[in-house]
Amino acid sequence: MSAASSPEPSRDCPLCPRLHDFIAAWREREPGWFNAPVPTFLPPEGEDSVRLLIVGLAPGLRGANRTGRPFTGDYAGELLYDTMIAQGLARGEFKARPDDGLELVGTAITNAVRCVPPDNKPVGAEIATCRAFLKPTIARFPNLRAILTLGSIAHQSTVRALGERVASIPFRHGGRRETGGVTLFSSYHCSRYNTNTGVLTQEMFVSVFEEIAAFLKN
Ligand code: URA
Repeated sequence: MSAASSPEPSRDCPLCPRLHDFIAAWREREPGWFNAPVPTFLPPEGEDSVRLLIVGLAPGLRGANRTGRPFTGDYAGELLYDTMIAQGLARGEFKARPDDGLELVGTAITNAVRCVPPDNKPVGAEIATCRAFLKPTIARFPNLRAILTLGSIAHQSTVRALGERVASIPFRHGGRRETGGVTLFSSYHCSRYNTNTGVLTQEMFVSVFEEIAAFLKN
């Protein structure tokens, strides 16, 4: 597989100089951290078993960038993984460590931007560049039926990765659209900021997952 169509960036991916330099600085500062593009989290049954792909924004500095597993080590992961376990989309116990034994069920988790961005804010060029990995990530799952995007940036990048126009599928919490051979669900991001400010309640988040779980049963 050529580098351009690989679903995973190399550990030293140079494509976004700002993110590359940011990670390099954190490697100096925290050599024990993961400090690299965070790979897609896959279920033990492999990519053929994946029917749902969850797309987050980007690794958190002290979360996925530290631990090397999406949504692991920061608040967003607690709500996400607890909700997934309750819906049968993950099994085990989430203990916020990559060796906690938590397993995904029929689901993979990735990020629209694989490298931690300063202040959690990737710029447009970085989001566009990293789509070179999002596209083959979507394509690698032959039995994919649904994608859940968390937040508007993940939504827009996924819509573009599917070859659609952002204006034709605007982001909205609770959104659901068939496109590109999959059903695209969207939710507000499960960040601490969104839950603290009441933009996203636990009930709202659970209800999106209930809809997806029901959809996947059919
Ligand atoms: N951690 C991730 O891996 N992605 C997010 O979007 C937020 C936290």
